[in-house]
Amino acid sequence: MMRVLMVCLGNICRSPLAEGLLKSKLDPNKVFVDSAGTSNYHVNDAPDKRSIAIARKHNLDISQQRGRQFEVKDFDRFDLIYVMDNSNYKDIVKLARTNQDKKKVHLILNELFVDENADVPDPYYGGDHGFQHVYSLLDEATDEIIKKINKDS
Ligand code: 4NP
Repeated sequence: MMRVLMVCLGNICRSPLAEGLLKSKLDPNKVFVDSAGTSNYHVNDAPDKRSIAIARKHNLDISQQRGRQFEVKDFDRFDLIYVMDNSNYKDIVKLARTNQDKKKVHLILNELFVDENADVPDPYYGGDHGFQHVYSLLDEATDEIIKKINKDS
């Protein structure tokens, strides 16, 4: 069983969408998908209402997800750790115990825009448009992840 973790800062806006999108495209018996935040700001919180709304608009229900903070043990639990931006990357790589841990961490948009090291913009302080943009980016990035996983398995 392959295990994939999506990570952002709060685990309420971007990574819940990434988790929901990837889950919706995969066989749950073959791939386990989860998400976490680098911060503890929203532990046990439901996703942001605007993320729930944009997902629902695309027939995806993420309302049952709850926030949790990334922990070092996640390096053992997951094969692939996708972070949403460069700040998340720095925070997670800081926690890596070994080079093997570090090698699991990838910027999710590098799947789409190879080697550009682009960020999924944090939509938290913006308007609804930002959430549609984030949804579209993550929809395309998760399509690329699927291609890779299906090729490898
Ligand atoms: P996320 O967005 O990292 O995509 O979940 C944020 C959510 C909450 C906060 C920051 C970013 N916050 O500062 O509470």
